[in-house]
Amino acid sequence: MNILVLGSGGREHALAWAIMQNPKCDRLICAPGNAGMAEIAECAALDITDGSAVVAFCEEVAIDFVVIGPEAPLAAGVADRLRGAGVLCFGPSAAAARLEASKAFTKEICAAAGAPTAAYAHFADAEAARAYIRAQGAPIVVKADGLAAGKGVVVAMTEAEALEAVDAMFGGAMGAAGAEVVIEEFMTGEEASFFVLVDGETCLPIGTAQDHKRVGEGDTGPNTGGMGAYSPAPVLTEAVAEAAMEQIIRPTMAEMARRGMPYQGVLYAGLMIEGGAPRLVEYNVRFGDPECQVLMMRLGAQALDLMLACAEGRLDEMAVNWAEDHALTVVMAAAGYPGAYAKGSVIRGVEDCPEDSAYMVFHAGTGMEAGQLVATGGRVLNVTARGGTLQEARDRAYAMVDRIDWPEGFCRRDIGWRAL
Ligand code: AMP
Ligand code: GLY
Repeated sequence: MNILVLGSGGREHALAWAIMQNPKCDRLICAPGNAGMAEIAECAALDITDGSAVVAFCEEVAIDFVVIGPEAPLAAGVADRLRGAGVLCFGPSAAAARLEASKAFTKEICAAAGAPTAAYAHFADAEAARAYIRAQGAPIVVKADGLAAGKGVVVAMTEAEALEAVDAMFGGAMGAAGAEVVIEEFMTGEEASFFVLVDGETCLPIGTAQDHKRVGEGDTGPNTGGMGAYSPAPVLTEAVAEAAMEQIIRPTMAEMARRGMPYQGVLYAGLMIEGGAPRLVEYNVRFGDPECQVLMMRLGAQALDLMLACAEGRLDEMAVNWAEDHALTVVMAAAGYPGAYAKGSVIRGVEDCPEDSAYMVFHAGTGMEAGQLVATGGRVLNVTARGGTLQEARDRAYAMVDRIDWPEGFCRRDIGWRAL
């Protein structure tokens, strides 16, 4: 079949890499793609949030299946447009994508489904929000309601910080995303990510991971999109996963179906786990980046069969073939990230890294200029390895990092520390 992957990050390179290994894939096109995807697939320039353009492209090149990587096209209704045109597609409708695009919506679904999550209140004006913060005290969490590229959450340790966040959000610092805010109870515990495929009815867990959001070693400094990840997450034991399925995932997915917006795609649940009990921090309606890279490394070619079954409503026929393995990815980023960084620096040595089912350098912000690999974004490479133990996966990943010659880049040297 002819398959189209929408996106241009490390997540989409990992999806493309797994899809390519499956014999069902005859032709793979990535839009817009990056230098890594260009090595294994065709790349096409396409505005991936423009539903009409995506549908026209699919008709032109006879695409049989579309895998949507990032949240922006989902929130823009690209999956609805594709299904409306009769194109098989992996990813939720715009209505169901509100689970990521509106925090107030998610809290309301959780309340209706009785799913454990932080206590909250929802505000459309600053004065009421300030009064609530004064009444509750700190620590407390202030969230912009809408999509804010990972920058819409302030975990305030003092009341002053929380009030400042409210003023910034209602003052327009997050644009339209901050026009409404959710204020939440501060939860303690250990965070982990749980990935579940949902075909509208059946929910099938496909793996767990832990991310490192802070830019600095020891989880210090500003938040980023993620500086590294590993799978599985030891804190998400089978018992915790079962509790999350029973108390959070299945009830909320049933509530979505009951409301006439059945969810179809991968559901990424951010969980806070304390004393063996999971609570929902947030839902995302896509794979995590870089969590996807470690999941794809472990799932390999079966990822395509699972995504197809999900899109066709056949998840009840499927089982995941688990290997007793671990995967770890280290993000190499441009100096300055997540603040301002330069583009265009040359990266050497990637071509000397091994590439097989145990070693892979996934590309994020890369391009080719005059035959050389150059950095074009903040997060640039995801150096990923598998091993029989987490320690082995980590040693392999850092051995590859050390082969890469990129003086303008940096990475954290402590990915996996919490689990090791
Ligand atoms: P989110 O964008 O919702 O993932 O939030 C970003 C990060 O803020 C999460 O990964 C958590 O580390 C933290 N966070 C969000 N909500 C809470 C909460 N209610 N209590 C404690 N930490 C939170
Ligand atoms: N790595 C966090 C995310 O993809 O949202």
